[in-house]
Amino acid sequence: MSGFLRKIFKNEEPQENNKKTPDVISGTLPVHIAIIMDGNGRWAKRRGLPRTAGHRAGMESLKRVIKSCTKWGIKYLTVYAFSTENWKRPQDEIDGLMNLLVEYITKELNEMHQNGVRVRAIGNIEALAQKARQSLEKAEKTTANNDKIYLQIAINYGGRNEIVNMVKSVLDDASQGIINGECIDEKLIAQYLYTSGIPDPDLLIRPSGELRLSNFLLWQSAYAELVFDNILWPDYCEQDLYRAICSFQKRSRRFGAVAD
Ligand code: IPE
Ligand code: IPE
Ligand code: MG
Repeated sequence: MSGFLRKIFKNEEPQENNKKTPDVISGTLPVHIAIIMDGNGRWAKRRGLPRTAGHRAGMESLKRVIKSCTKWGIKYLTVYAFSTENWKRPQDEIDGLMNLLVEYITKELNEMHQNGVRVRAIGNIEALAQKARQSLEKAEKTTANNDKIYLQIAINYGGRNEIVNMVKSVLDDASQGIINGECIDEKLIAQYLYTSGIPDPDLLIRPSGELRLSNFLLWQSAYAELVFDNILWPDYCEQDLYRAICSFQKRSRRFGAVAD
């Protein structure tokens, strides 16, 4: 491939070859990394390609990032794949995204399983089309006993929607006498969220230059370290993730207390 073409289709080339990232990262690692996979549309537009081509290229970035996280011993990775607000997009883009999800799972499930990835979908999964739902269920079932890395795919996910659902479930259980009002605390609320049992993200990354959360993990990100990056998601590679982790390692996490 010529240098020019390589530049255009950057993510068709193996990223690791020309990047200097260590196999082992010393120091405190984030236990849980959350990523807003953003910028696919702009990546495609810059190349005169349909938006779906950007989403397809974004899938390759996801593969790379899962690999890097597994290699470095990150225990939890949550990726934002489709928000409750993304239904506002043109129907053909939505269909393209759902088809890509099914394609991704069909193609990657075996390898993810072999690599010890445990997949879990978070969001309003019941509202998805049957094919997408079945794919996610299959991925969850196949990988249920894996424990190398826990991959949460946020799909039809919205932080506010999650909180509304949590309130409904809490009220429901209270009316049935399963819980009483006095035992409602932060720990209990966390148990009623999609992410029940998963530690909060330590590091939340948003590529593409946008400086907002767009309804992602609103409760869980209360004390996440934020890293914003100008790179578009399809161009995101191991070195970018490494930089984000290095930035995380330089932060003083005080959680409201005073530094040592
Ligand atoms: C993120 O990329 C993917 C989804 C939201 C599904 P975008 O499609 O939002 O890309 P931009 O932000 O338009 O570039
Ligand atoms: C957030 O990106 C959702 C995902 C990446 C899945 P958007 O592109 O939908 O967010 P906004 O519209 O820029 O806030
Ligand atoms: Mg976007």
